[in-house]
Amino acid sequence: MQRPNSAPKEANVPIIDMAALRNIGSEERSRVIEEIREASCRFGFFQVVNHGVSEPVLDEALSVASKFFDLPTEEKMKLLSGDVHKPVRFGTSLKNDGDKVQFWRVFLKHYSNPLNDWIHMWPQNPPDYREKMGRWSEEVMKLGIEVMTTLIEILGINPTNNLTQKIENGMQVVAVNYYPPCPQPELALGLPPHSDYSCLTILHQSSPGLEIMDSEDNTWKLVPFVPGALQVNIGDHFQVLSNGLYKSVLHRAILNNSETRISIASLFSLGLDDKVDPAKELVSAQNPKRYRESSLRDFLNFLANNDFGSEGKNFIDILKL
Ligand code: SIN
Ligand code: FE2
Repeated sequence: MQRPNSAPKEANVPIIDMAALRNIGSEERSRVIEEIREASCRFGFFQVVNHGVSEPVLDEALSVASKFFDLPTEEKMKLLSGDVHKPVRFGTSLKNDGDKVQFWRVFLKHYSNPLNDWIHMWPQNPPDYREKMGRWSEEVMKLGIEVMTTLIEILGINPTNNLTQKIENGMQVVAVNYYPPCPQPELALGLPPHSDYSCLTILHQSSPGLEIMDSEDNTWKLVPFVPGALQVNIGDHFQVLSNGLYKSVLHRAILNNSETRISIASLFSLGLDDKVDPAKELVSAQNPKRYRESSLRDFLNFLANNDFGSEGKNFIDILKL
């Protein structure tokens, strides 16, 4: 599955100004709302600037992540687990067997909201990991709530069903990804093509490497690297909630042969056992329900029984009616 050596084309994804979105009642807010609607329905992807997560918080999250991966292997192995139900786990897909496609990534995943329920389980090393990643998680959680609330407003869903509360009290899984330089990047991938199971994912990356599938011409496009911007992608559960109006974007991570790339993804879901169903306002005789209900726990069970992504099978595929 060799990929071309030439530089990939860049995706034409909008850069959303969150400051304009916060300017209630303004014309610029209406314009930004339209941009978000279009991007979520077409790509399921956009970037955000003026997002409120401060530069030191962004920088320190990346540097403490890097320090974690630089620890001696025995230290990281204490957290190694293939059990997808574990709230904190270290994992690797770096392997030297005869697979056709090599995935070139190590990762650390941990539950993060509410922070006080989980932070005591996070790595104790490096000593400032909890403080720095904790600050990043909390600030990104606030941004995630803001973006998800806006996405619900755009859909015109009545929030009387406690949806807002379920989002605020929902699960946040932070996935810290480490992609070392790869001698032949065209022969491997950091992460295989997949869509995220979450409602929404916000990603912070140290350098370019995220590609999204452009469904208009069916080609992979590189997400342009905008310093300080965060990447936002719609996940499977928002596709379900919107009864297919929003697209859960297919994406993958590519590699390079010169420098390590780190990305930190925050995946927002409802509670572990909260079922997500198409919103009743978006279902009618002309537009029937397109997905069955499911929870984050259902996804984890699916993940435990499937080799994630490598077969091109995603959670959303089994939810389609
Ligand atoms: C992800 O899909 O979770 C991460 C992608 C990336 O590293 O850019
Ligand atoms: Fe992803």
